[in-house]
Amino acid sequence: MGARSLKKRRHGEHLAAPQASSMAAAAANSPPRRNKARRPYATVSVLLSGVLFVSVAALLFISSNKWRAFGNYVSYEMVNVVNEFPHDPEAFTQGLLYAGNDTLFESTGLYGRSSVRRVALHTGKVEELQRMGDSLFGEGLTLLDKRLFQVTWLQKVGFIYDQKTLGELGTFNHEMKDGWGLATDGKVLFGSDGSSTLYQLDPRTFKGLPLMRFYSFPFLHLNAWSLPQPLITLSKHTIYYKDQQVYNLNELEYIDGEVWANVFTLKLKQIDLICIMKGLIDAGYTAIDVLNGIAWDRQQKRIFVTGKLWPKLYEIKVVPINKPIDEGIIEQLCLHDLDGHDGAELLQSDSPEFKGVMCQHFQVEELEDATNGFAERNVIESGDNGTVYRGLLATNMKVVVKKLPCHSCQPEESFASQVELTARAKHKRLVKLIGYSTNRTCRLLVSEYIDNGNLHKWLHEFQGSLSPLTWSIRLHILQAVANGIAYLHEEVEPKIIHGSIKSKNILLDQQWNPKISDFGLFKLQSSNSSHSMSNFTESNDIYDFGILIMEIISGRIPFPSHHSQPQAYIVDWFKSMISNGKISDLVDPKLPKKPSSIVLKRIILLALWCVDLDMNPKLKMEDVVQMLESNQLLFYVGTTTFRGYYH
Ligand SMILES: *[C@@H]1O[C@H](CO)[C@@H](O)[C@H](O)[C@H]1NC(C)=O
Ligand SMILES: *[C@@H]1O[C@H](CO)[C@@H](O)[C@H](O)[C@H]1NC(C)=O
Ligand SMILES: *[C@@H]1O[C@H](CO)[C@@H](O)[C@H](O)[C@H]1NC(C)=O
Ligand SMILES: *[C@@H]1O[C@H](CO)[C@@H](O)[C@H](O)[C@H]1NC(C)=O
Ligand SMILES: *[C@@H]1O[C@H](CO)[C@@H](O)[C@H](O)[C@H]1NC(C)=O
Repeated sequence: MGARSLKKRRHGEHLAAPQASSMAAAAANSPPRRNKARRPYATVSVLLSGVLFVSVAALLFISSNKWRAFGNYVSYEMVNVVNEFPHDPEAFTQGLLYAGNDTLFESTGLYGRSSVRRVALHTGKVEELQRMGDSLFGEGLTLLDKRLFQVTWLQKVGFIYDQKTLGELGTFNHEMKDGWGLATDGKVLFGSDGSSTLYQLDPRTFKGLPLMRFYSFPFLHLNAWSLPQPLITLSKHTIYYKDQQVYNLNELEYIDGEVWANVFTLKLKQIDLICIMKGLIDAGYTAIDVLNGIAWDRQQKRIFVTGKLWPKLYEIKVVPINKPIDEGIIEQLCLHDLDGHDGAELLQSDSPEFKGVMCQHFQVEELEDATNGFAERNVIESGDNGTVYRGLLATNMKVVVKKLPCHSCQPEESFASQVELTARAKHKRLVKLIGYSTNRTCRLLVSEYIDNGNLHKWLHEFQGSLSPLTWSIRLHILQAVANGIAYLHEEVEPKIIHGSIKSKNILLDQQWNPKISDFGLFKLQSSNSSHSMSNFTESNDIYDFGILIMEIISGRIPFPSHHSQPQAYIVDWFKSMISNGKISDLVDPKLPKKPSSIVLKRIILLALWCVDLDMNPKLKMEDVVQMLESNQLLFYVGTTTFRGYYH
């Protein structure tokens, strides 16, 4: 359908990605000492996720297992595909390694679908599979002393499996902020947590500990062992490209004296740059996600890569090239906190302190301080769904703190992982979710502060006779909100149904740019949200959007309360006005200048479609975006789509 062209257009619409500017605030670790004179003993290469043209190498000097200094030497490499193999397209690859004898081990992610598996390289056949619990999200995997070590997303616990049987041997804890990538040189473990830090962990911590029963598996292994203390962190090093930190270090592999990391991006765009991925997409594999597996065959010196849901696994060779590629590309692709290269659609991360952090965990006390102890005077809004406060963080950042009602709230851990998932949705039309906090009785969400109130206030509470919201501003708001909803529906994985699209949830900045708030709140609100959510689909949001269009055109409150003067429900009112031929009377009397009747008819028709029970299920938010932004309407007849122009 129109998805492709739509995406392209959205691309062209905006300027390049934000540049990662000040890194100072994020540089928690002391800056690297530079030492160009010494010969490198080991290097760290950063293989751009999916960007297989280039890998950027920065050198890391190691001596007697200690990281001594860190160079800023950069080399450029080209990636050539020399062989391809089948790969399970259902595997959401998070970790990959080659163990000799045509055998790969792979860790896969996603809740309910995570696993550790042994795979035959040539056939792609999964020969052995160990499913993980539904609450676990598999991440990086490595093999040391015939044992597989695996980290998990959003948890500080990792798992140990027997190489032969894939039976679980036990768990370990680590001190990284999160579990992303894992690799080994045969002596130490290297770990990444999505920040710009590369960790060196001591696997010897395992040795000399008594065998213990392991409690958190569904079944007990008599000889299972677990580690009460976290794996000792031998060292931590911040990875730089030139002078800028490289965030989102993800899947790791130790290759011939170097640690390779791919850099995580939320979504791959700019597919022109990505030869392998583009090839796959062109071949019809449109559902694939980013590159996320690197494996090294030490004996035959082969490098394998694959990605999340890729149907193929590739053997690649990297060839140094002399001429650096356009350096701006590396900065755009690699140095942003999350997918910054897609500047068109992603919210700019303008506060450096949040770079590289998807979602912050706050102490409840920090948020008490930020809101003067949840003071009454800081309350913005209070209702069934909790209380919203304005707050000022210690970093001087203005935020909004939402205290959720907690009579049936989720367990802290599932709340946290739900927030993390929600926070991955980043788009300039969405209010940025910055972080969260929990204690036993309280769930708090922290999001960015938008300084010009909500659309409801401007539509219904503005006292003047002429509304500052001109027709073109109103149209811009509708288009932008539609774009934001389309992003939630079509581009976030797993998709987010907003569930409560309404003018109170559309916040405005000083330039009348809208941002959608409270997305994902449904799932965060109650422990049995899955039940109440189960029948909510994209159609609900499209219906609500239809009502929003009517509200914006007319300036009427959609659901008048009983106390106010009796008014019909907006949809009925629209229908009756239209059937009485009073279309122009639908327009908000406060509009300074009314739209032309052609434009008005077109947009009213769209609104009616959104709330029409036959039409609504056939619409996708992307269609709505397209119809709002062009003068094109899509006509559905049965399952066939026709395009037409409405004049
Ligand atoms: C190599 O793999 C094959 C089939 O998986 C197995 O039969 C054989 O024993 C393995 N060889 C070694 C040396 O592990
Ligand atoms: C509370 O949230 C639900 C779901 O997000 C929404 O339908 C409802 O209108 C909200 N209530 C209030 C008073 O905002
Ligand atoms: C689930 O929701 C219903 C109402 O929607 C409520 O009565 C019930 O207590 C909730 N169950 C739990 C476990 O929170
Ligand atoms: C959790 O935090 C809230 C807000 O500060 C506080 O009122 C409550 O007493 C705390 N609960 C616990 C169990 O610490
Ligand atoms: C949601 O689905 C349940 C059964 O799955 C049904 O009983 C309920 O009426 C549905 N609710 C709505 C609002 O459609």
